[in-house]
Amino acid sequence: MTDIKDINIDLRDNGHITDDQVVEFEKTYGAHHYGRLKMVVRHAEGCWLTGVDGTKHFDCLAAYSAANPGHHHPTIVKGLVDALQGNYGSVISNVVYTDTLGVFLKKAATIPPQLAPRFGNNGNKVLPKNGGVESVETAIKMARYYGYKAKGIADGKQEIIVFNNNFHGRMITVVSFSSSHKYKEGFGPITPGFVSVDYGELEAVKNAINENTCGILVEPMQGEGGMYQPPDGFLKGLRDIADKNDLLLLFDEIQVGLGRTGKMFCFEHENVIPDGLILGKAISGGLVPLSVFITNSQLMDIAFQPGKDGSTYGGYPLACVAGIVALDVIISEKLAERSAKMGKILKAKIEDIAGRSAYVKEVRGRGLFIGIEVNNGDAMVYCKKLLDLGVLANDSHGHTIRISPPLVINEQEIDYLTERLEKVLVD
Ligand SMILES: Cc1ncc(COP(=O)(O)O)c(C=O)c1O
Repeated sequence: MTDIKDINIDLRDNGHITDDQVVEFEKTYGAHHYGRLKMVVRHAEGCWLTGVDGTKHFDCLAAYSAANPGHHHPTIVKGLVDALQGNYGSVISNVVYTDTLGVFLKKAATIPPQLAPRFGNNGNKVLPKNGGVESVETAIKMARYYGYKAKGIADGKQEIIVFNNNFHGRMITVVSFSSSHKYKEGFGPITPGFVSVDYGELEAVKNAINENTCGILVEPMQGEGGMYQPPDGFLKGLRDIADKNDLLLLFDEIQVGLGRTGKMFCFEHENVIPDGLILGKAISGGLVPLSVFITNSQLMDIAFQPGKDGSTYGGYPLACVAGIVALDVIISEKLAERSAKMGKILKAKIEDIAGRSAYVKEVRGRGLFIGIEVNNGDAMVYCKKLLDLGVLANDSHGHTIRISPPLVINEQEIDYLTERLEKVLVD
C-alpha cells in the first residue's frame, strides 16, 4: 500500500491562483446562488480570516454560528486528524454499527434536558443528518407522523404552524412556508400543510389551530428574519397552547443554540422545554457538516423505525468525531457563559455607539447574537464599509447588521470591532 507520506496533493495551489482568478472560476463554473462580498479567504483561525497577501479580517459572522468555537479550534482539529490517521473517519455502510456514532448519540441526547416530558421521563433520542435543513425536515416528519399515528389525523391533512419571517433553510418543503417570495418563486409546486402567523402573536397561533394541526415549528429567536427576540412569555405561551391542544412544539436552534445567545440553548432564557430540538452548524465545530433532531425517546420510536428515514453521510464517523469533540469544547470552555459575558460588554459598547449615531434605529439581541437595525433599511451599506476596515459582517433581513462573532472573542477583539463600528456609524 502507498505510504501516506509519499502522497503529495496540492489542493489549493495557493501561490499560483490570484484572488481575481478565484472569483472568475466561481463565476464561470459555479451556480450564482450567493451574492458574495469581494473577499477571498485563504486561512481561518479563531476569529480571524486571512487573505493571500496576509490581509486579516475579523469574522463577525462565524458562518451564521457554525464557527461558534472559533475557526480551526485546535482540539476539534486534533480529534479529526486523529480519526483520519487512525482510520476511523470514513463513511461506513449504515447496515452496521460504529463506535463513533454510539458515543456521539449519547452525548447529543444527554446534553439537553428531558424533551417532551409530558410523554414520560424516557430520555432523549437523536436522529443525525448533514445540514440544518435536513434536520428541520426530520422534525416536520416527526410532527406529521405524530399527528397521523397518535392523533388520528388523516394522512396528508396534517398541518404545522410556523411564523412569518421564519428561516429554516432552502429545500422545497422548507421554502414552501417561507415569507420570502424570492425563495420559492418558480420552484413550485410547493409543499402544503403549513400555516404561517406573526412571530410573537399568541392569539394568531390559537386562531390557526384546527383538528388537523399537529405541531408548531419556531425559532426561539429569529436569525435571518432580522435578529428578533420574541416578546417575553411567547415561548411559554406556545408551550401552554401545545399542551392544551396536543401539538408537538419544535424549536429550531440551528443558529441560536449551543451558546450563541449566552445560554447553552436559547430556550433556557424562558425555561421552556420543547418537544423536539433541531441543532446544526456549531454542533460539529464548523469543520464538517452535521445536524440533529432530538426528541423524547418515545416520540422518536413512534415515528422512526427502519425504512422511515436515512442518510448515507448522516452520522458518519468523521462527523461524529467532530460532534463529540465540539460539544466537549463548548462545555469545557464554557462558551455559553463566555458568550453571555462578552456579549454584555460588546452590546453595551454598541449601545453607546448607537446613542451617538444618526444611522442606528435599534440595537437588540442576547449574548453574542446582536443586531444593529439601521434607519435607511440597508445594512449592507455599512457592512461594505466595515469590510474595507477589516471586519466581515453582513445583513440580517436587509435592515440589520448582524454581529455574531465566534464565541471565543476576547476584549481586545471587541475593541477592534467597536472601533470600526464607531468609524462606520458615527464618524
Ligand atoms: C434557524 C435556521 N434553521 C435552519 C437553517 C438551515 O441550515 P443549513 O444551511 O445548514 O441547511 C439555518 C441556516 O442559517 C438557520 O439559521
